[in-house]
Amino acid sequence: MSLTAVDLFSGCGGLSAGLIESGIEVVEAYDCWPQALDAYRRNVGDHAVQLDLSDTATAIKWIAETGADLVAGAPPCQDFSTAGKRVEAEQANLTTAFAQIVCEYRPAAFLMENVPQVRTSSTYERMRRDVTGAGYSLVETVLDASRFGVPQLRRRFFVFGHLGNSTVGEWFADGLEARQTPERLTVKEYLGDEIDIKFYYRHPRNYSRRSVFSVHEPSPTVRGVNRPVPPNYIGNHLDSAPPGKVRPMTTRERGRVQTFPPTWKWPGGDRNADAELLVGNAVPVKLAARVGAAILDAIDR
Ligand SMILES: C[S@@+](CC[C@H](N)C(=O)[O-])C[C@H]1O[C@@H](n2cnc3c(N)ncnc32)[C@H](O)[C@@H]1O
Repeated sequence: MSLTAVDLFSGCGGLSAGLIESGIEVVEAYDCWPQALDAYRRNVGDHAVQLDLSDTATAIKWIAETGADLVAGAPPCQDFSTAGKRVEAEQANLTTAFAQIVCEYRPAAFLMENVPQVRTSSTYERMRRDVTGAGYSLVETVLDASRFGVPQLRRRFFVFGHLGNSTVGEWFADGLEARQTPERLTVKEYLGDEIDIKFYYRHPRNYSRRSVFSVHEPSPTVRGVNRPVPPNYIGNHLDSAPPGKVRPMTTRERGRVQTFPPTWKWPGGDRNADAELLVGNAVPVKLAARVGAAILDAIDR
């Protein structure tokens, strides 16, 4: 069966690229940030539309014209993430906008990605009530990307909702389980000779944490900023190597750890702030591909 989707808050297209790889046809994508739209169009396709999705009435008109079966999206997570201040405000409202679009447009299914902390937010509690009230059965799960073909410890919450046959959810959950590896993938296993460093620096949130990592382990979560080693950095006893000998990953290397293809074009030169943000914001392509494949299997059965 063919499945068409729209991608809300599409960024540079990590989620779209993965869904497309799984066999889902992404017919339209929406974001409000011109740099994200540029990157999306250069790498995924010209079906990206500039739209402020807090204007749900306009969004629903656009989506209704596509007739898409699946509404997918990763609304901004800063209000929920440990990196943000955890005040549910403007950004959290975009999760509410996603829920409102689902309830009013009523696709056969929806998929939303966010940080695990969203589960305990009042925003998600409301979303849950609204979408189940609109008839959706839900599968809610936190996936570790390193067990889904991505060399990165990145834990993300996914909620898959569908109308109709309630066993679709069970089949989807089974499909995810079948696609999960017992082992975590390391950077070296994924990139092989493509990466010519043994260790690299990833700026810590605070200096009590380590910041030098080996390529023979999954990468820590790729974030939206990429900083050089501070000149006064003295290291941490947990670091995998002395700080003097390491560099941060390049934008391209970070993109590869997010499993974007080697041919992906990022804006600007290395360490361009927009590119770094687009990379860190993205749903890893291979994770999205496995989730998409589990959706297709469940709907096809
Ligand atoms: C988590 S990122 C999405 C990443 C994307 N799914 C990917 O895999 O590459 C969230 C996106 O929401 C977009 N955004 C924020 N506010 C928005 C709004 N009001 N309307 C539309 N897009 C918005 C941001 O520009 C950003 O690209």
